Amino acid sequence: MEIVILAAGKGTRMHSAHPKVMHTIGGKPMLAHVIDTAQSLGPEKIHVVIGFGADAIKQAFDSSPHKSILNWVIQVKQLGTGHAVQQALPQIDTDAASNPVLVLFGDVPLIKPETLKEVLEHCDDNNLALLSVNTQRPDGLGRIVRNNDNQVTAIIEERDASAEQKQIKEVNSGIMAIPASRLEQWLNALQNNNDQQEFYLTDIVSMAVQDKCSINAMVIDDDMEVMGVNDKSQLALLERHYQMKTVEELLSKGVTIRDPSRLDVRGDIFCGKDTIIDCNVILEGSVRLGSNVEVGANVIIKDSVIGDGVKVLPGTQIESSTIGNDASVGPMARLRPGTELGDGTKIGNFVETKNAKIGKGSKASHLAYLGDVELGENCNIGAGTIVCNYDGVNKHKTILGNNVFVGSNSVLVAPVSLEDNAFVAAGSAINSTVPSDSLAVARSKQRNIMGWKRPTKNK
Ligand code: UD1
Ligand code: CA
Repeated sequence: MEIVILAAGKGTRMHSAHPKVMHTIGGKPMLAHVIDTAQSLGPEKIHVVIGFGADAIKQAFDSSPHKSILNWVIQVKQLGTGHAVQQALPQIDTDAASNPVLVLFGDVPLIKPETLKEVLEHCDDNNLALLSVNTQRPDGLGRIVRNNDNQVTAIIEERDASAEQKQIKEVNSGIMAIPASRLEQWLNALQNNNDQQEFYLTDIVSMAVQDKCSINAMVIDDDMEVMGVNDKSQLALLERHYQMKTVEELLSKGVTIRDPSRLDVRGDIFCGKDTIIDCNVILEGSVRLGSNVEVGANVIIKDSVIGDGVKVLPGTQIESSTIGNDASVGPMARLRPGTELGDGTKIGNFVETKNAKIGKGSKASHLAYLGDVELGENCNIGAGTIVCNYDGVNKHKTILGNNVFVGSNSVLVAPVSLEDNAFVAAGSAINSTVPSDSLAVARSKQRNIMGWKRPTKNK
């Protein structure tokens, strides 16, 4: 079995500089959804017909795990869906007896593997299988024409349809399984004498009927599964549908989601038991939430692992980080890539971390920047502490032992070390080692000027 995915069109109605199939659903390009589904069916090859923005598309899939079975076919001018399949024809093995060629559309992203398996089962040398759907929204789609015996006889595009045919509510999904042995003959016979002057793949249906090949139209109920995206409004509609399905899956596994319409999942999410997600949360990439985690409102978590019992308080952003059990982060904290928080740590409001290893039980409760740091256990970083990790040219590290206390509004100028039990007086600028069990005071001494008069207002 070989698969052809049509993805050459510009998608004029998207009003975008990017190829239509690269627009995303759930954070993943539509074409990637289709390729993943195609791959799961175990085909010999996946031919992807591209044209508009071909280089950008190829580049985007350069690191795809399915790269080895992808064959890029270039359609220079987009002369129709039939013409597109024609471009792939020389590379399809049409001699292989009774092998179906499955045609998918790059702009129909939510099609399920189970449905496609069934379509494939209905295709052999004398049977062309296609997927149709009954819909209340047939506008712009190809109508399925049936005879008095309810046999499919043709597909008529809306622009070529008679007023009577336009009333038909059964429409073409575009997905078809065609016997490879017949493909060449039918494609070669396509004409473009229609309203759009395009070579329509759908015209092979009436040819098949003439050649005494039966048409097996599988009608499915879920019109969202086969919905094509032609404009931004359809993209938004499918995005919402996809999000609802994803959230339903999390709910079915026992996650508490305060408002299913206000969680967005753009990637692969794992959630433990008794985890609660509040409103307006975005989870991106690969996110693993442990058990008993509380994710507050307006939180964004990307590519991170969150341990059990962690509280992520409202307004927090976390990216490429690891958080130990029972830690508390936020509200309004920003954990940038390379943050590793130990168990029971606390990162409070307006604290930013980056490349920061924070040992068990350590705290930075308010207003701090911790970049390129290693903290031992049970340290306390006072409010307003800033690590100067950048000298204008290079980045340097700051290393703290266990049980270090940094007083408020201190500056730690890297590279610098603060050894176990070191104590830094508030307002210090530290630029050399603070030995263990010592107090560092690095600020000017306070002077009091007695009898000093405040300035008065000029007359
Ligand atoms: C097509 C079907 C229509 C069906 C609908 C379902 C045809 C003639 N019509 O119409 O019956 O109801 O899909 O969504 O097949 N493409 C190319 N090269 C081309 C033209 C199109 O690769 O020359 C690709 C597009 O990039 C897109 C797909 O084929 O991914 C479908 O093309 P589109 O123009 O969107 O077809 P529709 O008018 O939606
Ligand atoms: Ca379309």
